Amino acid sequence: MSTDALRYQSGFGNEYASEAVAGALPQGRNSPQRAPFDLYPELISGTAFTAPRHENRRSWMYRRQPSVVSGRYQACAQPHWQTGADRDIALAPEPLRWHPIPLENAEVDFVDGIRTLAANGDAEAHSGVAAHVYLASRSMERRAFVNADGEMLLVPQQGRLTITTEMGVLDVKPGEIALLPRGVAFKIALPDSEAGAGPSRGYVCENYGAQFRLPELGPIGSNGLANARDFQAPVAAFESEAGGYEIVKKFAGRLWRAPMKQSPFNVVAWHGNLAPVKYDTANFMTIGSISFDHPDPSIFTVLTSPSDTPGTANCDFVIFPPRWLVMENTFRPPWYHRNLMSEFMGLVYGEYDAKPGGFKPGGASLHNAMVPHGPDEEAFEKASHADLKPQKLDNTLAFMFESRFRFIPTAWALQSPALDTDYADCWAGLKDQFKP
Ligand SMILES: [Fe+2]
Repeated sequence: MSTDALRYQSGFGNEYASEAVAGALPQGRNSPQRAPFDLYPELISGTAFTAPRHENRRSWMYRRQPSVVSGRYQACAQPHWQTGADRDIALAPEPLRWHPIPLENAEVDFVDGIRTLAANGDAEAHSGVAAHVYLASRSMERRAFVNADGEMLLVPQQGRLTITTEMGVLDVKPGEIALLPRGVAFKIALPDSEAGAGPSRGYVCENYGAQFRLPELGPIGSNGLANARDFQAPVAAFESEAGGYEIVKKFAGRLWRAPMKQSPFNVVAWHGNLAPVKYDTANFMTIGSISFDHPDPSIFTVLTSPSDTPGTANCDFVIFPPRWLVMENTFRPPWYHRNLMSEFMGLVYGEYDAKPGGFKPGGASLHNAMVPHGPDEEAFEKASHADLKPQKLDNTLAFMFESRFRFIPTAWALQSPALDTDYADCWAGLKDQFKP
């Protein structure tokens, strides 16, 4: 692909338009009798045709060969990628935490490196999400992946990603996220791992439900949190190298593979509002209290996937980025709580203020519906006696996949040596200190 591939179009859900060759994009009609340069028009609809206009997502691609041209599909084994809740797991109502997921056995690519930590819902019912980690050190060379079961939100933790998609190329580094629509083919190269920097690791939210979108802002007004213009979609780019590809498709909870004689990344021009995007969390305008107390953590929502119940998300993607803490006479870390919503958390870098020692980058925690949790003993002690000067919480990025559905950990996650079997001990020392 040309170096021009690394330019971007800004906005979220815009009517993007891009051509890698001047004149390749038809004007005035979507499927002319013969498209420019005899390219094939192909439509991808990410929503039902009749979805409301503000939710409707579709794009037209003009390509050298339509994606229907492929060999037959065969089953493809990837035993660690699980879809939906595993109802056979008896799950105790306890908090769970994992140390950094070990990087051994990472001599694989992104697809083979997926490990499902927990999942909920049902891809067939278009509800729920899976929380995965990926551990990989090999680029996908002539291998492409298509997920028919859900969109994929990637949160790299270690190592950059070069994501080649049908619509163009995204370069994504830790601190940034990528949102890859359901059904759009992509492959992932790992420039840092290939340069000898060791395995790459990150988190993935596979969303079977309604597409992630920007949350409503209510009284915040028209600016704030993640601003639409900071999302970046790629510009059209296509591969010209001859040679075949292996297409791996996730379909109905299973992986399938088929040979393809040409690169699936053969789109010369495209337009529409269904596109992969990336976003740098450094551009998140964080809002918090400037008097006392905390707003609810929903104030940190970057993207939300709504469910059928207003205000009760299929999944919210929430970040805890660097920010100032200035609240007076306030216990500044998160308070003790239990919620209807279930919380899967990860840490990209730095320290999380409620668990300064125990929660490490590359690890994870899970607090399901009505499972109590909160600051550990050390954090409670420190915050209860801290001198409340304005304080910058810096060099940290934690995040949460928050869902109305309980996350069921996989057998792999429960048997992993990374499972912190002593997690609950971090609260054991909290004494009754009632002094009437
Ligand atoms: Fe929580």
